[in-house]
Amino acid sequence: MSTNAELKLDGKTYSLPVVEGTEQERAIDVTTLRNQTGHITLDDGYANTGSCYSKITFIDGERGILRYRGIPIEELAEKSTFIEVAYLLIQGRLPNRAELRNFSELLTRNQLLHEDLKFHFEGFPSNAHPMAILSSMINAASCFYPELLLDPKTQFEIEAARLISQVRTIAAFSYRKSRGLPIIYPKPAYKYTANFLHMMFSDPYQDYELNPEAVRALDLIFLLHADHEQNCSTATVRMVASSRANVFASAAAGVCALWGPLHGGANQAVLEMLDQIHREGDDGSKFIQAAKDKQSGKRLMGFGHRVYKNYDPRAKIIKRACDDLLGKLHRGDPLLDIAKHLEQAVLSDAYFVERKLYPNVDFYSGIIMRAIGIPVEMFTVMFAIGRMPGWIANYREVMEDPHSRIYRPRQIYTGDGLRHYVPLEERP
Ligand code: CMC
Repeated sequence: MSTNAELKLDGKTYSLPVVEGTEQERAIDVTTLRNQTGHITLDDGYANTGSCYSKITFIDGERGILRYRGIPIEELAEKSTFIEVAYLLIQGRLPNRAELRNFSELLTRNQLLHEDLKFHFEGFPSNAHPMAILSSMINAASCFYPELLLDPKTQFEIEAARLISQVRTIAAFSYRKSRGLPIIYPKPAYKYTANFLHMMFSDPYQDYELNPEAVRALDLIFLLHADHEQNCSTATVRMVASSRANVFASAAAGVCALWGPLHGGANQAVLEMLDQIHREGDDGSKFIQAAKDKQSGKRLMGFGHRVYKNYDPRAKIIKRACDDLLGKLHRGDPLLDIAKHLEQAVLSDAYFVERKLYPNVDFYSGIIMRAIGIPVEMFTVMFAIGRMPGWIANYREVMEDPHSRIYRPRQIYTGDGLRHYVPLEERP
């Protein structure tokens, strides 16, 4: 359907096209607005702004729907794996058996870091945050393969495989370094997620005993984080890509954007919040009060979302997986009890109900990671490992769009009017 919106401004009427996506999302196309009217649009935080056309991920926040390349997240969570989903996101369709095998082999061939990269880890203090190490090392990794960057079109598959595979190797190495432990190399025989746990927890003299339930749960966490349309970090990756920066530089920028506690850093913040509530012996009521008080500077971490005004479908899946894993490991966790209590209390609290604040993906994921033995400062790194295929798919979309222009928003200037330079000796 193609219609037009009419804009009345300064006594004139302008016609702006209305565009519609495959799921009937509609937008007023303002591409010609400034040329026609001299005005720009202002949308603080971009809550009403579509920045691109994309074929990768669909979200309906009102109905709690999330689909990768059209496939519901619930089906993928039940039937697929992280690596198959990575292929789906980047290539646009599910692989056949041979394609999946080739993709896995490509990842395995590219999982080792250049040996000289090991020396870069030495430069970080042992208390460096792993997200700082991750973004630096992703950029550093690109310096070792300059030939890939020279010809991104033909080398894209290898670049993408290097990033997906090596982000996991860098993550595990940075953890080992932070604990003063020797580095463990990946084993070609292991699949992606098992290999990550091996590199994290094995010792040179003894292999870590892989628990299939833990491997499956972590793989599910990676899969559920694999893409989420134009969130802060993905929009950052597209922004950097739009300047034609290489995929490593764009992904490193994505890691930095993800780090903040309002975005990927929320999973670490949730665990710290639950832990604080536990240590203080509160059942969560005091924290809920504080989260409702704007003066307190506190928020209920793991709650609320810019797009979901309903349950985040990923949160539902993760909550079930969390119960399942703890059951299978025959383990309880007081933080899970606190989390469930908080959720119950909040879902009937007028403040949260009116604002449509529901648990998001970060609310229960930390409890799973804690059960697996992932330290809390590595939680956001797990999010970054999971999100890498989504960033790469979005990077590719920008690069392959023949109409792609550099992303360059405008502003409404609110600073001083014209004033003149005062020499230093004349200043008060
Ligand atoms: N606790 C208490 N109040 C909240 C919360 C919260 N977690 N989230 C939003 N609000 C309030 C907010 O104060 C505002 O109230 P009022 O209308 O009275 O001013 C209202 O709800 C709307 O919030 P907003 O900040 O305008 O919403 P936003 O779309 O800009 O922010 C958010 C979305 C996710 C940043 C926010 O809900 C938040 O800070 N949540 C906690 C951090 C978190 O869990 N982040 C992970 C997001 S999911 C993973 C990801 O994709 O990164």
